[in-house]
Amino acid sequence: MIGASISVKPLIIAVFAISSFLALLYLSPSTKPIPLNSSVLSVSHRLKIRDLSFSSEKLSIWSVKRVMEWRPCKWWLQGHVSVLPAENNGYIRVDCYGGLNQMKRDFCDGVGIARLLNATLVLPKFEAAAYWNESSGFADVFDVDYFIQQMNGFVKVVKDFPGEIASKEPFRVDCSKRKGQFDYVESVLPQLLEHRYISITPAMSQRRDRYPQYAKAAFCQACYRALRLTRSLEKKASELLEAIPKPFLALHLRFEPDMVAYSQCEYLGLPPASMEAIDAARGDRKKWTGELAQLWRKRGKCPLTPSETALTFQALSIPTNTNIYLAAGDGLMEIDGLKSIYRNVFTKSALLSGEDFTNMHGNTKAALDYYVSINSDSYIATYFGNMDKMVSAMRAYKGLHKTLFLNRKAFAELTFQGLKGEELLQALWIAHKDDYVMGRGYALPDCFCEFKL
Ligand SMILES: *[C@@H]1O[C@H](CO)[C@@H](O)[C@H](O)[C@H]1NC(C)=O
Ligand SMILES: *[C@@H]1O[C@H](CO)[C@@H](O)[C@H](O)[C@H]1NC(C)=O
Repeated sequence: MIGASISVKPLIIAVFAISSFLALLYLSPSTKPIPLNSSVLSVSHRLKIRDLSFSSEKLSIWSVKRVMEWRPCKWWLQGHVSVLPAENNGYIRVDCYGGLNQMKRDFCDGVGIARLLNATLVLPKFEAAAYWNESSGFADVFDVDYFIQQMNGFVKVVKDFPGEIASKEPFRVDCSKRKGQFDYVESVLPQLLEHRYISITPAMSQRRDRYPQYAKAAFCQACYRALRLTRSLEKKASELLEAIPKPFLALHLRFEPDMVAYSQCEYLGLPPASMEAIDAARGDRKKWTGELAQLWRKRGKCPLTPSETALTFQALSIPTNTNIYLAAGDGLMEIDGLKSIYRNVFTKSALLSGEDFTNMHGNTKAALDYYVSINSDSYIATYFGNMDKMVSAMRAYKGLHKTLFLNRKAFAELTFQGLKGEELLQALWIAHKDDYVMGRGYALPDCFCEFKL
């Protein structure tokens, strides 16, 4: 099959090109990088791609053989690793803010901290972001009794406050802004012992590697095994999952005005309506312009547009008739850039009835997207946000490894180099294939161990 598509002459040219490329490599000082767009390299790329029968049979990215994948580590899967102390040091409530997946991330961290400090966990406060104009508590999204039962032996959880603290508001310890090597035993334990009941929002950069294993196990158990949607939400989510034609790819595409404004990226050539929406969402976050905008983009800071996403999908040989579930909020811009090429795109608003939606808010809608994304055949994210981290880790936990984050940095670099058309597609293929083969970036390492295939 492959041989048939390669006539003899190009093969000779390619072999010659490869040998001269190798000679070039050999002769050039090792510190000097060879420009990626040199013609020699692109010919050799082409041959490599032919080897993968890219241009003849068009195997998709998912059929490339990986050498490494992340799997949940045995030490926490096998259960609790130490007996809980009989006496606790007090009670901790985790206060969570932002979107659903950010709240969940902070909550998981908080469970680990509670165990680290030998504290009893009180059900968390979930405070949804102001832009959702709502409040949705932990119990509205997650099955509380299931959580408590699953955490048995890992950390003590109470639903109702014991008498001594029932009437008190917790003493607030804000760790969220602390940076560096922040030690909870050193900085938070004294306040816990003093006040007996504290609330914390975990720090962004904590050093879980220094936790004792029983605290890490509590974190992993909470994050990957103990959180299940409420019965009614799970029912709705599985109805949605049923309604999506199979097999399907879940795509988390971030191109909403607030996201683009937040990224501070410059997008030249968007239609006026989208530009206005972005400017309206900008607030006091200035966008980069000129050369700085280019540098910013090359660092991979800019969300891919729907049409850039479609182009990358084509580079990955994802067939244009693939069923795609759009796991995204309302207000995606320029979505026709994707839909004009990938025609089988489904959204929850099209699959669920309007009645279902009027009773839902941001948190519960986000929970639906999460549920579908951890149950899809494949998952692709155009960004690397909280949802993507949560979903990819959960997929790894479930043994679903067709997960990929699109490489915004490679996209920017290659297009700045002036690559176009087939050449661009091939270079994008190489960049993503390497990421996929190495299982790069797609699981949170804390609870996951590398598994060589
Ligand atoms: C928690 O309890 C364990 C024994 O179960 C003990 O080794 C550890 O020092 C305690 N940690 C704190 C912060 O009290
Ligand atoms: C928030 O919700 C209230 C009542 O549900 C509504 O009156 C108000 O307009 C909403 N605000 C925004 C910014 O959507």
